[in-house]
Amino acid sequence: MSVSGRPTFRAAATRVRVPATSANLGPGFDAFGLAVTLYDDVVAQVTDESGVRVDVHGEGADGVPRDHRHLVAKTMMRAFDAMGGRPRGLDLVCANRIPHGRGLGSSAAAIVSGLVLARALVVGGDERLVDADLLELAVEIEGHPDNVAACLYGGATIAWTRAAGEHPLIGVLPLSPSPDIVPVVCVPSTSVATKKARSLLPEHIPHADAAWNAARAAMLSIALTQRTDLLFEATDDRLHQHYRRSAFPRSSDLVEKLRAAGIPAAISGAGPTVIAFATADSAADVALLAGARFTTDILGIDREGARIVALDS
Ligand code: HSE
Repeated sequence: MSVSGRPTFRAAATRVRVPATSANLGPGFDAFGLAVTLYDDVVAQVTDESGVRVDVHGEGADGVPRDHRHLVAKTMMRAFDAMGGRPRGLDLVCANRIPHGRGLGSSAAAIVSGLVLARALVVGGDERLVDADLLELAVEIEGHPDNVAACLYGGATIAWTRAAGEHPLIGVLPLSPSPDIVPVVCVPSTSVATKKARSLLPEHIPHADAAWNAARAAMLSIALTQRTDLLFEATDDRLHQHYRRSAFPRSSDLVEKLRAAGIPAAISGAGPTVIAFATADSAADVALLAGARFTTDILGIDREGARIVALDS
């Protein structure tokens, strides 16, 4: 099969399902990610009518553009360009369940859904945009690898960026988290832009704090997979959470409250959602401690990552 020249597009409407993701998980800043059972679905179809039309339902429906500026559409065009050419027109329908601006990977979900859909709509797309290049494109658009890696692969992931010019540029180590872990997310009604949260981080951090996190991040990979008894210590952080406190004081208070009760908890990604690594027994306690200011969801771990699903599923 030829992988150069203008691509041929599949006519059938195609649906992708992508999980929400929590990044950092405490000490693993820009490295650790966890996919959870909360999903956005996007259906795409190439058309002969030129232009991009986007229909959006659910989370963020009122705040996103309905044309070529929509993040899924923009990402699909980047992928089509990488595969040799764009279709004449494109129709998208987004069913969003992942809240926007809350630290649950909604932009990573949009980017991954766009890349996976574009590839599925091109005959021979898997050869034109191989996995390593798809991941690199996702990270280039998102700016950091932790959410997109977990969104693509499911489960827990450790992701890293190699030195410029190395190939593949992005490395991912998928982990299989213990079935005993029950992720509970406490989502406040306010949002925080990742850009703002990143601007609060200092240029330099004390060596002792780096050492503190290095031990815990290493421990986290064992705690997530085999030694859940270590999760409490392994989710402690000194690199980013306290620098960002001013962006989400109530969420920071909740992390402290949960930890004071012995429940492993951290800020999810760039916040302001709080993620607790509960057990079947302690999940309800998280909801009680979070109270009415947070919408608390007891979730599962998504182990599949982004996938093409039947149109009627
Ligand atoms: N690692 C990123 C951050 C995740 O904390 O800024 C953003 O979702």
